[in-house]
Amino acid sequence: MAEQAQPQGPDLTQGVAVGTIPDGGMVGGHVGDESVLVARRGEKFFAIGATCSHYSGPLAEGLIVGDTVHCPWHHARFSLETGEAVGAPAFNPMSCWRVEQRDGKVFVREKAKPPARLRGGGDHPQRIVIVGGGAAGFAAAEMLRREGFAGSLTMLSSDDAPPYDRPNCSKDYLAGNAPEEWMPLRPPEWYGEQKIDLKLRTEVTAIDPKAREVTLASGASLPFDRLLLATGAEPVRLDIPGAQSTHVHVLRSLSDSRAIIAGAEKAKRAVVIGASFIGLEVAAALRAREIEVHVVAPERAPLERVLGAEYAAFIRALHEEHGVNFHLEDTATAIEAKSVRLKGGATLAADLVVVGVGVRPRVALAERAGLKTDRGVVVNEYLETSAPGIFAAGDIARWPDPHTGEMLRIEHWVVAERQGQAAARNMLGAKRRFAEAPFFWSQHYDVPIAYTGHAEKWDVLDVEGDIKGRDCLVRYRRGEKVLAVASIYRDVENLAHEAAMERAGAGG
Ligand SMILES: Cc1cc2nc3c(=O)[nH]c(=O)nc-3n(C[C@H](O)[C@H](O)[C@H](O)COP(=O)(O)OP(=O)(O)OC[C@H]3O[C@@H](n4cnc5c(N)ncnc54)[C@H](O)[C@@H]3O)c2cc1C
Ligand code: FES
Repeated sequence: MAEQAQPQGPDLTQGVAVGTIPDGGMVGGHVGDESVLVARRGEKFFAIGATCSHYSGPLAEGLIVGDTVHCPWHHARFSLETGEAVGAPAFNPMSCWRVEQRDGKVFVREKAKPPARLRGGGDHPQRIVIVGGGAAGFAAAEMLRREGFAGSLTMLSSDDAPPYDRPNCSKDYLAGNAPEEWMPLRPPEWYGEQKIDLKLRTEVTAIDPKAREVTLASGASLPFDRLLLATGAEPVRLDIPGAQSTHVHVLRSLSDSRAIIAGAEKAKRAVVIGASFIGLEVAAALRAREIEVHVVAPERAPLERVLGAEYAAFIRALHEEHGVNFHLEDTATAIEAKSVRLKGGATLAADLVVVGVGVRPRVALAERAGLKTDRGVVVNEYLETSAPGIFAAGDIARWPDPHTGEMLRIEHWVVAERQGQAAARNMLGAKRRFAEAPFFWSQHYDVPIAYTGHAEKWDVLDVEGDIKGRDCLVRYRRGEKVLAVASIYRDVENLAHEAAMERAGAGG
């Protein structure tokens, strides 16, 4: 997460030679004290803000795909023409400037007015209800209003906080390096301004697809014309003695993260059970708080199953360099007030325990409503469930993925947000297939890993560059087909792979 950098590069108001910007290329510079980039597509030039509205990623180091620019850090997408944030995780638009071509040069002129919203109208439903106030639920609500949906919009969330940046709960926020202002996806007053009736601490207990209403834990019921189910996943809890003690935590919500922070303020030694992405990010955050950290996990090497042996060795060494102690091929058998006992015989001192052993999709509501489920809620290419008018998105959705040809269910932030956006458009009748390539990132100290695609199993793993040198692109292949790539500081190549996957999947 970068601080706003001082603008660098040429003064774009003085003009840039047309020949210095290749088709599909861009050049960064400034207009006054704002960083701006000029992008070229064919004979057309665009000028757009250069600092991503998500977490300030440098867009000039990203990729132009069609009429959009993609951010190198977390792959947000912006329209070059209008600056609109057309693909999550960014939601705020970028500024655009008018450009003029004269005497073989492109000049950036005054800032363009945001385009008037022409969307809306159409044969929209009257009442939309969203169950879930997380990534998918928020992105859907935001997109519904952006698309001009003017009917009643209710978001029901069992959480006690308005939608927030969940990935940060195990990263900078947990480490104490992110201010509170970074966490909400929108300020509380935004929901009122957008006429989104956000009801927090509200559990939905039943859905009646025929009567088209949901029932709340309070007994109240709410009618809908379209429903989005976005109930996410819940952490698996351990079934061992002591797992219910107050110093033992799971991490799903902001209040879980705050509870761990409160525990960390008094703790000297922590045991993290599970070497999952979340477990390892928690380990890193607790090391940043100078707590002794032990990670206990049954696998031979952390994340080997997801990223392969080479990455796993690097990740282990990276965490060890930062003082994390691993107890691999071992499991916890009991948690006591000041220690954790392991199957292998060791006893580890711990006044804080965090369990990160995976999640289960929250599908109970869908099952009770008679929707088709299969280790997730089954949806079609438009993210509609087996009940017409009821859509599902995010961690619960199992969708037909055109890239693998398989029914996939994935637990990634950007996938959940993009599915929320796609479901929103389809609830309004767009009939657009969800065909985006899955993407996630994970941060370990100063090392970001970006992963695009999906490879549960692969035959060949090619390492280009050097994993240990923190400059690599790893390809996971089955036969000739690249199923996924995972990179460190090779963001443009990662974005190019994503674009190629999406081009290939577009006809599928
Ligand atoms: C700590 C942490 C760090 C992560 N880091 C990353 C990362 O770096 N990169 C990445 O790609 N992914 C990351 N993820 C995963 C990512 O956050 C999830 O994939 C994403 O949040 C899924 O979005 P969702 O909308 O499906 O579910 P959620 O965001 O979990 O939202 C579900 C919502 O549904 C509500 N709900 C559930 N049941 C009911 C009910 N019956 N009635 C009313 N409301 C209900 C919940 O309260 C919640 O508001 C992380 C997850 C966690 C927990
Ligand atoms: S900083 Fe651009 S997508 Fe996150």
